[in-house]
Amino acid sequence: MKHLIEPNDLSLLETEEILSLAQSIMKEPKDFAQVCRGKLMANLFYEPSTRTRFSFEAAMLRLGGNVMNLSDISTSSHTKGETMGDTIKTISSYSDLIVMRHPKENTPKKSTNHSFVPIINAGDGANHHPTQTLTDLLTIKDIKGSIGNMTIAFCGDLLYGRTVHSLVKALLRYENMKFVFVSPEELRVPDYIKESIDKSLYKEVNSLEEVIDEIDILYVTRVQKERFDSIEEYEKLKDTYIITPKKLEKAKKNMIIMHPLPRVNEIHTEVDQDNRAVYFDQVKYGMYVRMALITSFIGDSPC
Ligand code: NCD
Repeated sequence: MKHLIEPNDLSLLETEEILSLAQSIMKEPKDFAQVCRGKLMANLFYEPSTRTRFSFEAAMLRLGGNVMNLSDISTSSHTKGETMGDTIKTISSYSDLIVMRHPKENTPKKSTNHSFVPIINAGDGANHHPTQTLTDLLTIKDIKGSIGNMTIAFCGDLLYGRTVHSLVKALLRYENMKFVFVSPEELRVPDYIKESIDKSLYKEVNSLEEVIDEIDILYVTRVQKERFDSIEEYEKLKDTYIITPKKLEKAKKNMIIMHPLPRVNEIHTEVDQDNRAVYFDQVKYGMYVRMALITSFIGDSPC
């Protein structure tokens, strides 16, 4: 049985097939309106979410399927002391697919040992977020025409930002990708990520101004307040980078600005008017790519 826990659980070919399927769904959504008829997906979110949970739900409903949601854990038997393994055995007895977000790293992976149905990781702690990666890849492919031969700068909280960890991993499989990691010292990208990249293909800097004219994609992230041990440390770092129209003056005309959202302060709302800002397009791509993913996991053939 196939699960999606980290981006490379899908081969490059499978990833490309999902992106192409998403583009077909975007063109002719009606053809896919029944592919999950009679199927039931369980959304288990043990951490807050707006986009990921709603986009999964919207995706399944648009495919003709149904959704069960656990969003308030105080109402589940978890509070009576039930183990995650028993919860998963139970919920996978009722559903065809489980989507799980959890604050503790590797919980979705461990849950696969207890599940009778595929599990999709919707974010585990600071570890991975493979469906945001598919969203990001589709955004790049659809807007830029292809993926590869480009420089991407990740800016913000690169230590705890799981969307960064997953996207770097996925982009390493494409040709001639260069990476710039822009963060304060305290929020540097983890060593295990750097070790997976050839030294000639990345650099780490503190200042965005220093590199802004070199990059094709600016991927901004929120400082992940919930992962800090000390609120003082968070307060000290949270406004390190605030992207404003002024800071973008020297950027390439065809650079795109991405952000997985939610945004707090790191991109000024004035930037939303800049036609290089694609973070709200990303939101929509997220629903289509999840429609493609669910279809490839449990859907019937389109009509
Ligand atoms: C991200 C997440 O949850 O990791 N958001 C998302 O899923 N779209 C990023 C974040 O929370 O900052």
